[in-house]
Amino acid sequence: MTVKSTNITRTEHRIDREVRWRESGHRGGVLWFTGLSGSGKTTLAFELERRLFEKNYRVYVLDGDNVRHGLNSDLGFSPQDREENIRRIGEVAALFADAGIIVISAFISPYRRDRDQARQAAPGMFHEIHMSANLDICEARDPKGLYKKARHGDIADFTGISAPYESPETPELVLDTGGLTIEESLGRLMDYVLHNFRTD
Ligand SMILES: Nc1ncnc2c1ncn2[C@@H]1O[C@H](COP(=O)(O)OP(=O)(O)O)[C@@H](O)[C@H]1O
Ligand SMILES: [Mg+2]
Repeated sequence: MTVKSTNITRTEHRIDREVRWRESGHRGGVLWFTGLSGSGKTTLAFELERRLFEKNYRVYVLDGDNVRHGLNSDLGFSPQDREENIRRIGEVAALFADAGIIVISAFISPYRRDRDQARQAAPGMFHEIHMSANLDICEARDPKGLYKKARHGDIADFTGISAPYESPETPELVLDTGGLTIEESLGRLMDYVLHNFRTD
C-alpha cells in the first residue's frame, strides 16, 4: 500500500499481541464473510456474535450497512468506492484482531483483489468465509427488496445484476447458505472458531 505522509515512524506497543490474546482467552482474527446480497452474511454474523459472546469470546461485527452509516458514509457503490470501503474495513478489522478481538465482517466485498488486500492487512489472522448461496436463491429471498429494485433499473452497480461478484478461489471455509439451514451454518461457524482461535 502506498503511504502519503513522510516523516512518520512506527512505534512498537509495549504489550505483545500474544499477551493480549492470552488475556482474551483466544486468538484475535478476522472472519471475513463474503457473498451476494441476501446470502446470509448479516443474519449469520450477528447470531454468531451473540453465541460467541455468551461463551466469553471478545467478538464484534462490522456490518456493511452499519459501517456505511458512519466510517464510510462518504462512499457509494462505484468500483472505486467499493475498493476504498473494503480497504478501510480491512485496516479496521486488522486493528481489532491485533487487539485480541474476533471481528466478523459482513460485506459483499465482490472483488477478489480487494479481499486479498484485506487479507494482507491482517497476515495470519484472516479467514475468508464464502457464503455461497447462488443468485437465484438470493434473488428469491430478496429480504430488503433490493433485487426487485435493481431489476427495474432503480439501483446502479448492484452486485449480481449490474455489477460483478468474483467468488473466492481458496477461501478458508465455504458455507452453502443456499442449501444449509441457518442453524447448520451457525454450527459450522462455531466449530470453525473453536478449532482455529485457540491460543495453545
Ligand atoms: N439457510 C439460510 N441461510 C441464511 N439465510 C437464510 C437462509 N434461509 C433464509 N434466509 C434468509 O435470507 C436472508 C439473508 O439476508 P441477510 O442476512 O441480510 O443477507 P446479506 O447480509 O448477505 O445481504 C435473511 O432474511 C434470512 O432470514
Ligand atoms: Mg447484510
